[in-house]
Amino acid sequence: MQDLDMAITRSAAPVGVRHTSLERVADAVQTVSIDLGERSYPILIGSHLLAEPTAWAGLPKSAQTFVITNATVAAHHGELVQQALQAQGHRVSVVHLPDGEQFKDWNSLNQIFDALLSAGADRHTLLVALGGGVVGDMTGFAAACYMRGVPFVQVPTTLLAQVDSSVGGKTAINHPLGKNMIGAFYQPLRVLCDLSTLATLPAREISAGLAEVIKYGPIADMALLDWLDGHIADLRALAPDALAHAVARSCQIKAQVVGADEREGGLRAILNFGHTFGHAMEAGLGYGQWLHGEAVGAGMVMAAELSCRLGGVDRAFVQRLTRIVAAAGLPVQGPVLDAADNAGRYLQLMRLDKKSVGGDIRFVLLARPGLARVQSAPDALVRAVIDHCCSAAVRVPF
Ligand code: NAD
Ligand code: GLY
Repeated sequence: MQDLDMAITRSAAPVGVRHTSLERVADAVQTVSIDLGERSYPILIGSHLLAEPTAWAGLPKSAQTFVITNATVAAHHGELVQQALQAQGHRVSVVHLPDGEQFKDWNSLNQIFDALLSAGADRHTLLVALGGGVVGDMTGFAAACYMRGVPFVQVPTTLLAQVDSSVGGKTAINHPLGKNMIGAFYQPLRVLCDLSTLATLPAREISAGLAEVIKYGPIADMALLDWLDGHIADLRALAPDALAHAVARSCQIKAQVVGADEREGGLRAILNFGHTFGHAMEAGLGYGQWLHGEAVGAGMVMAAELSCRLGGVDRAFVQRLTRIVAAAGLPVQGPVLDAADNAGRYLQLMRLDKKSVGGDIRFVLLARPGLARVQSAPDALVRAVIDHCCSAAVRVPF
């Protein structure tokens, strides 16, 4: 991946110049393209993007456009989005979903369908997902299903959603027996990443989003990891130019991977670096105890440790990645999920991972720094890594 030239284009008409040189850098709108033939679309990235009419121009209009969001996000950014759509001639209805991963389910999905059906929405009705990954995944799935498919736009307002979940067309709800188990691949028309929306996001959520930025380094781009080593503090402080670079570079890498393997026949699985261990932590602790990005943070350290023991990276690399994860405000050790047989519990949970084949756990491991591959590993080695990397004393830093 790191050898591929990932072209980034700047939009022909960068939007407004504001007060300081820092803001000027960030205010230029960057466009990253997802190339999927007739399903291709742009990701627009910039500060104050949602106030920019060109960001909203040319979207399909039917009798009503539905903004799907939640009360938390709507309180900060709902009015701006509504006004921007109205200024383009859309008649806007807003659907508020309950806020939280525990509501990423059939009931919330049905709230969207209830609103669409009772308003007589047709198959040209545009849905706008305004929020983090939970709102984005559910709106995308609703768009995929309603009348067998209506257009939708992603307006991600968390760092995690801007660098990962809004891009690439994975949509889903959770099932009591598993996370994201019911879903569809369905691409949006456009992704609008307004970096300014992150100003209202709690610091803990910024750290969680950084986990998904960091992951792109070890799997695809060591230059990004080098850059992150010196810029984590800037990112946590929401420095506009640093954010613009991190979001754009993450989207470029994701665009490249999705463009090559939209439906995860193989390559796309590398985007799950650290997630096999991380998903076990989330499920074992109970969803919501640790944020997804926190589990991925500790999970990446464990995946790097396993890679090291298999000869893919050296110890210095593991230590470096651990330092960067810690600097991001993320845990670097996994929790103990079962005092009697912790490794056994991890293995049991990891066998449920979507990448598992016939009970054989498939990990995303590093063949070398900057190059990932999906492979299994001997249980005894995995047990040793879990024993080495987990602690009953670990707490999330927030
Ligand atoms: P989230 O959507 O729950 O958002 C986190 C919290 O921040 C919520 O309370 C939300 O209301 C609030 N929030 C959002 N934007 C805000 C803002 N600008 N200001 C203040 N508060 C704001 O969580 P998330 O981390 O964005 O997404 C996690 C979800 O994404 C999970 O369900 C995960 O499965 C999914 N995901 C999907 C993909 C994919 O490819 N589709 C990839 C990664 C994760
Ligand atoms: N977040 C992993 C993927 O989109 O494939």
